[in-house]
Parts: sequence; structure tokens; C-alpha cells
Amino acid sequence: MKILGIETSCDDTAAALIEVEGAGIFRVLAEKRSSQIDIHKEYGGVVPEVAARAHAELIMPLVERVWGGKKPDVIAVTAGPGLITALMVGVQTAATLAYAWDKPLVAVNHIEGHIYGNWLSNAKIEFPALALVVSGGHTELILMRGHGKYMLVGKTRDDAAGECFDKVAKLIGFDYPGGPKISAHAVSGNSRAIPFPRPMINSDNFDFSFAGLKTAALYWLREHGKPKKLHDFCASFEQAIVDVLVTKTARAVKECRPKTVLLGGGVAANKKLRAALAREIRTTYPDVALTLPPLFATVDNAPMIAVAGFFHAKRKNFISWKKIAADPNWRIES
Ligand code: KG4
Ligand code: ZN
Repeated sequence: MKILGIETSCDDTAAALIEVEGAGIFRVLAEKRSSQIDIHKEYGGVVPEVAARAHAELIMPLVERVWGGKKPDVIAVTAGPGLITALMVGVQTAATLAYAWDKPLVAVNHIEGHIYGNWLSNAKIEFPALALVVSGGHTELILMRGHGKYMLVGKTRDDAAGECFDKVAKLIGFDYPGGPKISAHAVSGNSRAIPFPRPMINSDNFDFSFAGLKTAALYWLREHGKPKKLHDFCASFEQAIVDVLVTKTARAVKECRPKTVLLGGGVAANKKLRAALAREIRTTYPDVALTLPPLFATVDNAPMIAVAGFFHAKRKNFISWKKIAADPNWRIES
């Protein structure tokens, strides 16, 4: 079975063609994406109207490059959550292709897509699975009891982890998105140099809060000026985020007793987070398996949407091209 995936929920326009082989292994046949980072840079953030116009210009040329001249069996598209104008471009493109090609259509939740990025590294994931989804817009712990069965265990009460990375990066003069730049500078830094707070790390629930950490970084910079040891600043800040994410995930493992732990979202590209989570699960919960998504399936991408689409198609969870609609606030557990 071949699935065409389309993703336009924020500032990346992406299309991919994947094939599912007999053993349930996913093969990415073609993948193209176009980041709008340079377009949005001059505004200091993503402008929805500008993003939608860029998606409208980019999406069909990308589809043309990946589909290979033979109609796919299923078309999967991100229908939410995200920016409404941006989502609508992908949804309308997918609906038009489904009509023109007379092929079934699937609506994929963007967060669900980030979770399914894990199936690109491991086709045999066992349930229940606990997923930590960390991106520019989301920080969530989600328990998956089976395909399409989600329970929200915890979420951020204010900023997302990626958003915190990006905002603090901006304070020290890094361009958007600053997460990867902080992470690159952190490599040679001392993570114990500055004692940044670890908000809610000991709270008796699975929620997160990162606004206080951002404010602590701001106050530190006001007091000390631009850090002379930028590497130490970045390493200490990154460590604070990683400590909170790993500690809370470990506590949720203790409570939810999953067979597998999964990681997803743009911040899942962070090497320190990947290593720290692997170490924690291996040492504290050796019976629990850990799957990490391949790096190409961490930041917004279309293969993850196609994989999620495959599992919807398997359950015949199709939607008519006449009925599909973008839902900017689509909650994964609904
Ligand atoms: O999943 P994504 O592409 O978009 C959303 O759905 O939000 O995630 C983008 C986020 C940005 O905040 C970016 O700074 C962050 O992921 N990010 C990282 C790294 N790579 C991307 N944060 C920390 N370390 C990284 N290596
Ligand atoms: Zn995303």
C-alpha cells in the first residue's frame, strides 16, 4: 500500500510518499519539504497569513515531485491542530486530489503524526505506549492504549518546551528557531554553571510549565548581561528543560506502566534529551522499551503523517472529500 502524506499545519510545507511492506515496515519512497523559516525571520515569528500564501504556492510542486506518476492508494493530510489558514491549504489540496484521483482520504491529527514518527524507526511498537510530544507548540504526555486510542496524561500550562527554547534563544540573539542553535552551543558547555529553575519538577501531577524558566533566563541576562560563556549558559538552560521532561516522563511511566516509551516533536531532535531519556528508562525501568523517532521525523514532516494515515486506513477510518475540514483546535483524545 502506498500513502501520500501532506503537512501544512505551521511553517513547513511537506509532502511524502511511503510504502508499507508485508511485515508492516514503512519505507519512505520520496519526501520533500520546504521550510518557510527565511520568510518568517523578518517578522520574528510565524505570520499565519504569510504562511498560508507560501503553502498555497509550494504544496502542489512538492506533491508533483513525490507522487511518482502513479496514484497512491490513500491520501493522508494534517487537519489540525495548527494555524487555520495554513491547515486549510493542505486539507483543500488533499480533498481535491482525493476527488480527482478517486482515492480514499484520511484526516490526521498533527500530534498523532508526531507520535507515529516513531513507527519509522520501529514497526513493532507494543501497547500501552507512553508518548512525550515536545515541539514548538506542544508539550504533552499521551498514553496510547492502541492505534487511535489516546489519553492525555499531562500537558504544559503555559509555554511549550520548544517555544521556551526559541524565546530564550531570541534573548541571546539567535534567529528563529533557536532550539537547535542553543543545543549546538550547549555541547561544549558546563550544564551546572548556572542553577536555572526546574519548574514543577516535583509537582504531584504530569503537567509542565516553562514560562518561569524563560523569565529566570531573562532576569539572569538582565543581571549579568550577555553571557561571556555562552556555551555554559546554553548548556545550563538546556539541562533544566531536559531534567524536567525526563523526570516527569519517568514519573508517568511509574504511574501508567506502559510497555513502551515514545518521543516525538521538533524537540525530539535534541541529542541531550534523547540520551537522558534513554539512560533514565534503561536504568530505572529496564523492562520498558524505548523507541526514538529518526531525526528526519522529529521536526514537522510528511512521512509521519503518512504513517498515521496508514493506521487510520487500516481501520477504514476514511473521510469524504466533501466533509473534511481543518480544525485548528483538534484535541487528540477527542
Ligand atoms: O515539531 P516542530 O517542527 O513544530 C511544531 O509542531 O511546533 O517543532 C519545532 C520546535 C522549535 O521550537 C525548535 O526550536 C525545536 O522544535 N527544536 C529543537 C531542536 N530542534 C528543533 N529544540 C531543541 N533542540 C533541538 N535540537
Ligand atoms: Zn509539529
